[in-house]
Amino acid sequence: MPRYAHIIGWGMYAPPHIVTNDDLAKKMDTSDAWIRERTGIVQRRIASEKESTAAMAIHAARAAIERANIKPMEIDLVIVATATPEYLFPATACLVQSAIGAERAGAFDLEAGCSGFVYGLVTAAGMIRGGMHNTILVVGAETLSRIVDWNDRATAVLFGDGAGATILRASEQPGGVIASVLGADGSGGELLILPAGGARHPAGPETVLSKMHYVRMNGREVYRFATRVMAQAAQSVVKRAGWSLEQIDLFIPHQANARIIESAAKALKLAPDKVFVNLHNYGNTSAASIPIALCEAVDAGKVKPGDRLVLVGFGAGLTWAACAIQWTAAKPGAIPLPRAATSRLRYLWAGLKALGWRLQRRADATVSQVTEVVEREEVETKTRKVE
Ligand code: ACO
Repeated sequence: MPRYAHIIGWGMYAPPHIVTNDDLAKKMDTSDAWIRERTGIVQRRIASEKESTAAMAIHAARAAIERANIKPMEIDLVIVATATPEYLFPATACLVQSAIGAERAGAFDLEAGCSGFVYGLVTAAGMIRGGMHNTILVVGAETLSRIVDWNDRATAVLFGDGAGATILRASEQPGGVIASVLGADGSGGELLILPAGGARHPAGPETVLSKMHYVRMNGREVYRFATRVMAQAAQSVVKRAGWSLEQIDLFIPHQANARIIESAAKALKLAPDKVFVNLHNYGNTSAASIPIALCEAVDAGKVKPGDRLVLVGFGAGLTWAACAIQWTAAKPGAIPLPRAATSRLRYLWAGLKALGWRLQRRADATVSQVTEVVEREEVETKTRKVE
């Protein structure tokens, strides 16, 4: 029997702190009019000191698990798409795996810039369809505010923070993620880059002084690239799915710039009500933008079973990614309170268990150190006796 990969759960998290264009205009040489006209962005969410990529990813993942009504132990794999991981290593996905108590799951991060979430979705769908796994959590999460130079108006006004997550599950029922396109053009890598902190330019006083830990972007070139690939990737994926462009019910593009989205929609001849846009509220949240948009679209009732969705991302790499989804999940109802309470208990227990394992590791290390010392002393005493 052929296997299909369906989205059965979705969830998002946006930091409560809102920064409007006018707020930015008080700090740098910009204006609400410029930002709105050139990008369509009106406000963005910015993470507090306590919020970070892993924390937001965990919130979104838990919401997706609730919506899917599954237990974390059913998850086989956790993929976190991010360009702003919690650390270079361990992977943010491992932090999520532990915090949700997905004890059976493998976990890894995926870096494909703003295309990361769609790359993750396609990877997960391929693993499910190939029979390797049954249930996979895919998260897109970013804290871009930590890598933006707040003195550079050309980039600072564009980005925001947040996270979105989906649960994919195997089924014999046709539908779900049915076609995909993944693309890359590494020759354009320097057009959108965070130059330092990796092996090429390790962190040091010089990299900090020359602001190499901030996003550098050639906006015009990225714009030209984006307007070209977004429509092309959508056309290719629709063809691979065996659909026509008229059959698209909802187009969910990466939320970077309203003009890029309008240009793609025009090339695809899509009416405005078939294109989901929420970037005015969040700015560009990179790998989190598409799952956040998907969550809002579903929760707003814009997606119903049988609908044909096209998701398209583009970003650093340069990369692009598209997937065609035949939606199958029923309209969501409110999550019953007893279930929400049980889940809170489960996460508390997962946290306690992780703490227990950490303590046990420390105790093991101490015991083995002590044992080593005792054994060494025994050997030394025996040697002395022989002498
Ligand atoms: N406020 C006011 N003026 C500004 C600002 C600002 N925030 N930023 C730039 N300007 C000025 C420039 O200095 C320039 O002034 P000048 O003409 O005196 O030199 C003028 O505005 C025009 O600048 P451009 O860069 O040509 O503006 P453009 O119309 O290209 O818009 C923008 C810039 C919005 C960045 C656009 O190029 C864009 O959206 N590019 C794509 C970016 C993108 O999508 N990036 C995300 C990729 S996904 C990922 O992986 C993260």
